[in-house]
Amino acid sequence: MGKKIDIIIHAASQASPKYYGVEHQWANWKNKMKKIEKVKLIKLQIFGDARGSLVSLEQYKNIPFNIKRVYYIFDTKRDTPRGFHAHKTLEQVLICVNGACKIKVDDGKNVDIFNLFSPEQGLYIGNNIWREMFDFSQGCVLLVLASRYYDPKEYIKDYSEFLKSVRCNRKG
Ligand code: TYD
Repeated sequence: MGKKIDIIIHAASQASPKYYGVEHQWANWKNKMKKIEKVKLIKLQIFGDARGSLVSLEQYKNIPFNIKRVYYIFDTKRDTPRGFHAHKTLEQVLICVNGACKIKVDDGKNVDIFNLFSPEQGLYIGNNIWREMFDFSQGCVLLVLASRYYDPKEYIKDYSEFLKSVRCNRKG
């Protein structure tokens, strides 16, 4: 876990309360901003030399699950956020391999925002976490490693349904 990076990220994200122009939302989140247990930054080792840099991703070594699927998001627009869902069982690691973007995560109780700006950062997101991606820089490429094959039935796309499901899980 890259403690230094973690601190930089939190400082950077809090200094930049831009969320596609909805400034008042920032005020709401600020009260709930807290580390979320099921979301962690992984510091990826960079093998660099005079020729350039390389990062290797290996299941159960630096990626804490069986990698079933890899996809990447690109051609994004700064003011067009995406995500807005949670997964019932899926785990993911998000890596901004080019450019930068922000990821808002929410466990139904607390909210946290991560500023991904380096291929050295992997953001692990466990199951039952609501996520929103926003503030994409020019040329941003977001690589996603997933623990399951694509299954639309595994998504929760309605925020109130998400809240209900996390509250049920907490009680049970
Ligand atoms: P979507 O889930 O809306 O992306 P986001 O992560 O930004 O919420 O996915 C966009 C489209 O791509 C949608 O039609 C479903 C499709 N898709 C796949 O076919 N396979 C995949 O692995 C993913 C992630 C999406």
